[in-house]
Amino acid sequence: MKGHFFVFEGIDGCGKTTQINELKNWLPKSGLMPKGTNLHITREPGGTSLGDELRELLLHPPADTSPEPITELLMYAADRAQHVSEIIKPALQKGDWVISDRFSGSTIAYQGYGRGLNMQLIHQLEVIATQEVVPDITFWLDISVQKSYTRREETIQDRIEAEGADFLRRVSKGFEETAKVRNWIRVSAEFKKDLIHKNIQETLFKYLTITKK
Ligand code: TMP
Repeated sequence: MKGHFFVFEGIDGCGKTTQINELKNWLPKSGLMPKGTNLHITREPGGTSLGDELRELLLHPPADTSPEPITELLMYAADRAQHVSEIIKPALQKGDWVISDRFSGSTIAYQGYGRGLNMQLIHQLEVIATQEVVPDITFWLDISVQKSYTRREETIQDRIEAEGADFLRRVSKGFEETAKVRNWIRVSAEFKKDLIHKNIQETLFKYLTITKK
């Protein structure tokens, strides 16, 4: 595919959204993007109208019900399939660049390590949902579970965040192990936001000058 696809992963409160916003301002002015290339900022769950509805159901389900772990897994996969088909793939085929706040690594970490669901099933669903779209770079913003809580000032925003520290520790381990296996770029998210942004800029600059696009 002609474009570039960059993904940000990490536990809740790691600062992905802040760093994506920094890139949204910097990349178009960086001179790295060829003329006429658009930058799409998107997220999972969400990124499409259908995905936004799924996001709401996943994070704030109706009071009298809660998705079973397997249902949750299938909903994240459905969200991803729609997101890839409707947004990511068409953009990359045009040569545009896409930055996504979370992608399939989150399912491995949260549903695989966090919920303990079957990893083989998770990988099968990943193949189906991602439709051969693979990120050029995945940035893993590494932050301790303790710091994640402090950053979020102990406020629980949604059903997944309400799972508690043991769940989040398993998820964090999931990111750490997946980062090794998949050659993700680990960025310590415990520094000041400007320094984190600088680290990300440097990685992108190196990657993009080597690939000459
Ligand atoms: P966000 O708060 O980073 O937007 O993500 C929403 C929540 O959804 C977050 O707690 C992580 C969770 N999640 C999963 O459990 N599995 C997934 O595949 C994705 C994309 C997100």
